[in-house]
Amino acid sequence: MNLKEEFIKYFVSLGHVQIPSAPLIPENDPSVLFNTAGMQPLIPYLMGKEHPEGKRLCDYQKCVRLTDLDSIGDKTHHTFFEMLGNWSLGDYFKKESITYSFNFLTKVLNIPINRLAVTVFAGNESIPRDDVSASIWQSLGISPKRIAYLPEEDNFWIAGETGPCGGDTEIFYFRSDEPIPETFNPKDERWVEIWNNVFMEYNKAPDGQITELPQKNVDTGMGLERIVAVLEGTDDNYKTSIWQEIIAKIEEVSHKSYAGNEQSMRIIADHIRTAVFISADYAGIKPSNTDQGYILRRLIRRAIRHGKKLEIPLNSDWLLEIAKVVIQKYEDYYPEIKENQAIVLDVLKNEAIKFNRTLEKGLKEFSKLVKSLDNKIITKEEAFKLYDTYGFPIELTVEMAEEQGFKVDTEGFKLKFKEHQELSRTASAGKFKGGLGSQGVMETKYHTATHLLNAALKVVIGPDVHQKGSNITAERMRFDFSCDHKLSEEEKRQTQELVNKWIMDDLPVNMTTMPKEDAVKSGAEAMFIEKYADLVNVYTIGDVSKEICGGPHVKHTGELGKFKIIKEEASSAGVRRIKAILE
Ligand code: ALA
Repeated sequence: MNLKEEFIKYFVSLGHVQIPSAPLIPENDPSVLFNTAGMQPLIPYLMGKEHPEGKRLCDYQKCVRLTDLDSIGDKTHHTFFEMLGNWSLGDYFKKESITYSFNFLTKVLNIPINRLAVTVFAGNESIPRDDVSASIWQSLGISPKRIAYLPEEDNFWIAGETGPCGGDTEIFYFRSDEPIPETFNPKDERWVEIWNNVFMEYNKAPDGQITELPQKNVDTGMGLERIVAVLEGTDDNYKTSIWQEIIAKIEEVSHKSYAGNEQSMRIIADHIRTAVFISADYAGIKPSNTDQGYILRRLIRRAIRHGKKLEIPLNSDWLLEIAKVVIQKYEDYYPEIKENQAIVLDVLKNEAIKFNRTLEKGLKEFSKLVKSLDNKIITKEEAFKLYDTYGFPIELTVEMAEEQGFKVDTEGFKLKFKEHQELSRTASAGKFKGGLGSQGVMETKYHTATHLLNAALKVVIGPDVHQKGSNITAERMRFDFSCDHKLSEEEKRQTQELVNKWIMDDLPVNMTTMPKEDAVKSGAEAMFIEKYADLVNVYTIGDVSKEICGGPHVKHTGELGKFKIIKEEASSAGVRRIKAILE
């Protein structure tokens, strides 16, 4: 049976429209690198926007979860996975949702009721216990002893920190040949979760406040890899039909068997499959040192390192052979895999060539290193050398170190990495005299004034004003921003006054370094979030401005002098330009 197709057929027969999987790399959402759940591309519709395909939807969605990266190598984790889901956008709610899931499991997949158990939300101070779901389960024949009430940590679902959310009911399957206990204990690992039905009726705001959504939705998610393992009666996902051909290919190219080499083979299988999907996505991601490109690089290089552990000849085309099996497996379901296969193979080939050039030497350097150290700590300088000279992502160094019982000074590495980045940024910026990065006193002042102007325009014109460009010389600043009208004299005057008030207030300018994701979550502004590395500098000015920026900046706004707008004009459609000076 083809589970993906059965699932879609079933929900289509219940009036759902199949929608295509959204891209793996979210469009217009810089706060996450990849889609992590089927509902992510549907957030606007869960919030109340009308979906063009109606109120009942279903799909299989490409997902990548990076939180699982370090667990890859065990039986159950994957970086990429497919999530089967069905949705009600303000249409049916608990009764239909639970009944549909129950019937699919027991009537289509023929799972005996006795192997099923469920959890429901126990409630909290503001939301009551979900007795409604519990009684629906009972009416379908689930014994009360098989219903566990669990708190918020387990049975309240939200993607990240904010947005649509709600209590959920999770369905468990008893995966063991041992006698099935009458009473369900969610802590007993023989019970595995197979499906999550979330009743999304709330929205969580950035300040933590929970309000009701305009409509009551259902969002469900069933991880394909896990349900297939359950149905095929194995507790090792990599032994299922999903992975069979891929693992067989790895056995072939390594002349080794899966048994005894599970960890490396799972890592290779998982990472190449994910690398295929990332590089096939229409976003055109290539291996690089930032964001999705860095994840892609890490995955490919880690797979190559494990290929080396399996003694696969490095200069063969083994990576491509495995990738071709992956492509063949998925091309009928995902058009981009078919369309972009040449690109995918190119990405893998080029990255392998690059890494193979230095891998042998890097491994030698590494083993020399571990022999020479008695304190079992790899210093930041050594980790940086492995990164900079031999192309070892820091995570790979950490993994190799751990295998030998060593630790790595990763914090020190990050600082060193940042210093290095700033040096190269300054060096390259120096080539464009007058651009961002020139370090003169006046340029520094104009940088800070740019942040103040950006903040003032948001107050005077509105929060939708965003920076579209900036150019600074020692003589003046130029600032482009989104705005649909010519500024009136009054608006210009208010903006100028506000900037000058903040200068008079002598506000402190502070810089903190943090992971980019945290910076975005904290509400820091950035013009091109993609161009920044994983660690970013966030500059705050008093409580009026918070922006991701490479700097440099003054320490106090009082240093700026008097701010004066010289000119306001159109720059391009929907974009205005202000020229200003400091006197
Ligand atoms: N969005 C829910 C999940 O990912 C269904 O578990």
